[in-house]
Amino acid sequence: MKNNQFDYIIIGSGIAGLYIALLAAEQGSVLILTKGSVDDCNTRYAQGGIAAAMGRDDSPDLHFDDTLAAGDGLSDADAVRILTDEAADCIADLIRFGVPFDTLNGEITLTREAAHSVSRIMHAGGDATGEHIEVTLSRRVRSTGVKILENCLATEILLRNDSVEGVRSLDCRIGSVEEYRCRSLILATGGAGRLFKYTTNSDVVTGDGIALAFAAGAEISDVEFFQFHPTVLRLPGVAPFLISEAVRGEGGILRNVEGRRFMPDYVAEAEMAPRDIVARSIVYEMQKTDSDSVFLDVTHLSPRLVTTRFPQIYRFCQEHGLDITKGLIPVAPAAHYLMGGVRVNSWGETNIKGLFAAGETACTGVHGANRLASNSLLESVVFGKRVVEATERAACGEDLVPLPVDDPCALPEYERCSTCPPLNLPGLQSLMWEKVGIMRSGKELRDAARTLATWEASLPEPSDRPSHELHNLVLCARLITEAALLREESRGAHFRTDFPRALPEWQRHIVFRKNAGE
Ligand code: FAD
Ligand code: SIN
Repeated sequence: MKNNQFDYIIIGSGIAGLYIALLAAEQGSVLILTKGSVDDCNTRYAQGGIAAAMGRDDSPDLHFDDTLAAGDGLSDADAVRILTDEAADCIADLIRFGVPFDTLNGEITLTREAAHSVSRIMHAGGDATGEHIEVTLSRRVRSTGVKILENCLATEILLRNDSVEGVRSLDCRIGSVEEYRCRSLILATGGAGRLFKYTTNSDVVTGDGIALAFAAGAEISDVEFFQFHPTVLRLPGVAPFLISEAVRGEGGILRNVEGRRFMPDYVAEAEMAPRDIVARSIVYEMQKTDSDSVFLDVTHLSPRLVTTRFPQIYRFCQEHGLDITKGLIPVAPAAHYLMGGVRVNSWGETNIKGLFAAGETACTGVHGANRLASNSLLESVVFGKRVVEATERAACGEDLVPLPVDDPCALPEYERCSTCPPLNLPGLQSLMWEKVGIMRSGKELRDAARTLATWEASLPEPSDRPSHELHNLVLCARLITEAALLREESRGAHFRTDFPRALPEWQRHIVFRKNAGE
């Protein structure tokens, strides 16, 4: 093995990257590149848990049905079948690697989240599931022969004869550029939540994998579907902090600023309705009462339940002067999860030979137009494992199932707008929040699309981490906005005030590819 040559290079060290690294290390040499420290990622902040049909009243079939229903007609049924059938095997891996899921009398405890027909969410440390998963897996990876390079930002996918040859990266501490070669390159770079003014996402989640893949010629699918979490702490001067859906699963109630419970006015499932419905209902209620938040109320629950089941949330609010066992929690929706991403087949393979994607950056087709709560940690491991299986099969000369053919479009070109404000990160985040957020309309999307295209054309060559991230965010913003503009209907998390219903002719995917049609 040459110094910079590996069998596997994995970009990202959240659940997808670390889990794949542990399995891949049994097959060959592995390098992880990660742009911050290992544990800087979204995984670490996951609260609710990981879904899997483990309960006596549950089955993979029931989990399959709930996932398809959440996807609102756009999930790929074969992918969902893989997700729900292969869940138990991957959960067994996580347990084997040491993830300490919560138990009662020797059995794993399961909680409920919205749109799940039974309790099926496994958690660890109450609401500290992500932290336990991240720390357990990163510790384990460090004890293997996997090489980890922190503060290394992947900036370009290197190709030779249309196949992956490696990756170029920037050492963010000293500014040096390196190239690494590999047989299989795996993007595990997470979503793009930092696109929005209000988000639950970590600073590192800037759509890099999607932007790198698009630049290399990979297909990007379903990016108009961005999930907004309904209940994120909204306290002046305090960064958005997730208040888990499991809080509503355990009996938390939403009240408007006048103290009245409002969810039953909107939908029979009330607080346990799908996330997009709860998020939009909160927006309507905030508009009606002219306020910038509603309240989540857990004061009727036993303080012991609240403090032991949700220790992180309790502590965080307490540190900001709020005892949630006694007072109401001000909450509002925030950007949370990108359903679409780099289009892959059921083995995590993109349309470029040797390039794979897993975790939130990938679009496996399981989530369709909306993700069922706690299915993303599961998707990361189920499809992550298949990436490693696929590379083993490819090494034996076996052909993988190719991506089904779709009809990709290219990004349209615009005339530059002379009245657009100059680009900066807060400006981009406000534009996306206001014009490409929870409620969208053709007019606002068109405005945003023109501004974004102008900004993209004005971007200088990136040279450091912030400028690379801004580049990537602008490209992702363009992809999301153009897809949202094309989809003239409302479905799942994508809501158009000018097309408020789902339309049968739109039961299809929007796929982008650079130079499509040329
Ligand atoms: P991440 O964990 O986000 O990791 C991405 C990694 O890529 C990071 O290490 C980052 O530094 C690295 N990276 C990115 N770009 C580059 C680059 N250019 N070069 C090098 N490295 C790069 N899902 C559930 O299923 N259950 C939950 O309870 C749950 N709760 C959540 C709570 C919060 C607050 C949030 C934000 C999300 C939650 N989710 C939950 C969603 C879930 O956490 C994520 O979808 C999942 O963790 C994504 O894992 P990942 O490995 O794909 O990406
Ligand atoms: C939550 O705990 O509410 C987040 C769960 C998820 O996003 O899957």
